[in-house]
Amino acid sequence: MAKWREVCAEDAFKNTYKFVHRRKEVALFRLQDGIFATENSCSHEYSELSEGMIIGDDVYCPKHGSRFDIRTGAVRDLPATRPVKTYPVKVEEGIVYVKI
Ligand code: FES
Repeated sequence: MAKWREVCAEDAFKNTYKFVHRRKEVALFRLQDGIFATENSCSHEYSELSEGMIIGDDVYCPKHGSRFDIRTGAVRDLPATRPVKTYPVKVEEGIVYVKI
């Protein structure tokens, strides 16, 4: 069952952050209206989306350039064809939490 996990202070990162909990890797992204989370591994091959480039509401995979909607995990550009999981995020008293 998913639980809220403490990630870091809200101001601990600028654009992206990698969070690891018991082998589960989560990528956090700061957008204009908040912080969002997806699984860290690209759905094409293994590459870390937390090292990708954010443009608008999308993240570009650093390996082959697939583009994912950060809010929904949907694929917006090939070569990936499968979405990535997304996770709920909340910020309380300056601390970021992700539900995984
Ligand atoms: S590993 Fe991400 S696009 Fe290939």
